[in-house]
Amino acid sequence: MLMISETEPFGVYVHWPFCKAKCPYCDFNSHVRRGGIDEARFLSAFLEEFAYFAALTPGRRVSSIFFGGGTPSLMRPNSVAAIIDAVALHWNLTKDAEITLEANPTSVEAANFGGYRGAGVNRLSLGVQALDDRSLNALGRQHTAGEALAALALAKRYFDRVSFDLIYAREVQTENAWREELTRALDHAANHLSLYQLTIEDGTPFAARHAAGTLHVPDSAQARALYLLTQELCEAAGMPAYEVSNHARPGSESRHNLLYWRGHDYAGIGPGAHSRVTANGAKRALSTVKSPEAWLAQVETSGHGIESEEALSAQETAEEYLLMGLRLSEGIDLARLAAIGGTVDAKRIDALAEEGLIARDGERLAATPQGRLVLNSLILELAA
Ligand SMILES: C[S@@+](CC[C@H](N)C(=O)[O-])C[C@H]1O[C@@H](n2cnc3c(N)ncnc32)[C@H](O)[C@@H]1O
Ligand code: SF4
Repeated sequence: MLMISETEPFGVYVHWPFCKAKCPYCDFNSHVRRGGIDEARFLSAFLEEFAYFAALTPGRRVSSIFFGGGTPSLMRPNSVAAIIDAVALHWNLTKDAEITLEANPTSVEAANFGGYRGAGVNRLSLGVQALDDRSLNALGRQHTAGEALAALALAKRYFDRVSFDLIYAREVQTENAWREELTRALDHAANHLSLYQLTIEDGTPFAARHAAGTLHVPDSAQARALYLLTQELCEAAGMPAYEVSNHARPGSESRHNLLYWRGHDYAGIGPGAHSRVTANGAKRALSTVKSPEAWLAQVETSGHGIESEEALSAQETAEEYLLMGLRLSEGIDLARLAAIGGTVDAKRIDALAEEGLIARDGERLAATPQGRLVLNSLILELAA
């Protein structure tokens, strides 16, 4: 039976599903509503859904809140404050809880940073994506590089903990160009950076252009070289990867994202949000309706937007822990895996260690830098 200790981290994810424009590479649950939206009505629905999830997870101590999207920096600071107050009302919000908000770095949104800090946000994650205007234009972004750097400087004035995202392995991006861009990024970085390789997601305009042969992205050998360069530059700058795409100065890791990768519970509120909740010794996976308007209608009639709910078997829970945990440099805790009900064949561990793909240190098992290059097949091998 899976036991949850009182002190185990528990997070709350809040999904704001609206954006000013849809970026052509993005397949997140994000929508553009030209006529605007009724923010007060959505806020009421969020507050209602909080009450529902709180009843499913009584007594949990919330150690992090994450406002993700979509574009949560389109929310009014008052709405963000009301949501943080609701979390504190329904659960026990720890004094040092990490409260992150994802923000797009346009000047209009940057004007709200002070308001977010006043609302209780203490960490900002900015979607900078690229540091030159041509690339930003190609990515369909609504901000210039100058605006992004100004927003970053402002964010650093308001918040001790600031991260920004860049997308690399972009159209015709050479190693030299990425070296120059990442070096500049590291000069501007506060204490955390998320560096994502461009993924061509099915159903996006980028996927259509890629299929038509009009979008040329680095091939897998070039992408691998860019990944290795990323590790080299970030390590030299004191911001090693603590997860495949996430880099931080030691101590500045995102506590909320760590909670996912370490297999802890979280409640996901809002359209298309996912949750993992342990009750009566078993983990349950819940997800809510993706369409914002359909979610709103369901919450207004039923008090929640949940559309699917599944009890995970011990094996599924263990596989999920393996899958998420091996993304982390610290790897997984074999004792925790065993407590969940999973095992990894000792002979398989020895064989993969011999190949230099994983390393075992007592109860910890982690992918080596070489193993991280073939992480997906490594995880499949371990989970088999
Ligand atoms: C929820 S998204 C966006 C947050 C925010 N709306 C923004 O665009 O800045 C979080 C991050 O995922 C990354 N991302 C989204 N789509 C991607 C893709 N197709 N390939 C690589 N990274 C992607 C971007 O870096 C983005 O900042
Ligand atoms: S990348 Fe961000 S701003 Fe662009 S559509 Fe996706 S969620 Fe919205």
